[in-house]
Amino acid sequence: MQQLNTVAELRALLSHWRSQKQIVALVPTMGNLHNGHLRLVEQARTRADKVIVSIFVNPLQFGAHEDLDRYPRTLEADKAALVKVGADALFVPSVDEVYPRGLKLQTVVNVPDISSILCGASRPGHFQGVATIVCKLFNMVQPDIAVFGKKDYQQLKVIRLMAKDLCIPVDIIGVDTVREPSGLAMSSRNGYLSTAQQEHASHIFSGLQTLAKAITEHQDIEQARAAVIAQWQDLGLALDYLEVKNQYDLSAPNSDDKQLVILAAVHSGSTRLIDNLEVTRT
Ligand code: PAF
Repeated sequence: MQQLNTVAELRALLSHWRSQKQIVALVPTMGNLHNGHLRLVEQARTRADKVIVSIFVNPLQFGAHEDLDRYPRTLEADKAALVKVGADALFVPSVDEVYPRGLKLQTVVNVPDISSILCGASRPGHFQGVATIVCKLFNMVQPDIAVFGKKDYQQLKVIRLMAKDLCIPVDIIGVDTVREPSGLAMSSRNGYLSTAQQEHASHIFSGLQTLAKAITEHQDIEQARAAVIAQWQDLGLALDYLEVKNQYDLSAPNSDDKQLVILAAVHSGSTRLIDNLEVTRT
């Protein structure tokens, strides 16, 4: 696997691949790779000739009081894992390489409306940071395909809208969340949790499943939602949101909408955890 640290090196490799008419897939990550990320690479491999993974802890998507400094950086272990799953190249740019004029002068990409609800309401500027870096990565790599996890459901929607609005010709693939045997969605932030907190956090997914059952069985959704929130609170999971939305654009569903998604964010101590579950109403 080749490692590239600059856009110039990246472009040289990509022009070589393109001259060979290779289909290129990009898997953007912030590193500290777990099985969820590796699944993205495996999916990319089934759809493209060449897979390039980027590792960049993007300062633009972290708020002032968020975990940018303590975000886990595990490059050597990440490289070993990527070699095993057969990634062809790894792009690891520095902050200066990505933002040569500095963060304050960077031209930004904002996807209106969807960026200010749910996680966007609690993390102002987060999705602008995500849309900006993903737009830049799309322009740097010009991939045929880009692969993202559905664990970050709202992020995937923001990125799809960004690519559509800016006419970026890339096929965006969403991959199902990989879970621990307990049901806990894999996340780099799980490493911040104590063993007891991890056990409690597994009830996030079971809560989503309870609410999904209430939806499919036409029970009282508000009552089910309140019971799930109460259980989470008893387990020390402080609610940020638990919402049922339309899968397509995360708007409030009307009674005819069948394709729904339940999205949640909670705090366990100082760690913010998110999860979601798609559900089809009959
Ligand atoms: O999901 C992530 O790891 C990041 O938000 C992404 C898409 C790599 C952008 O920094």
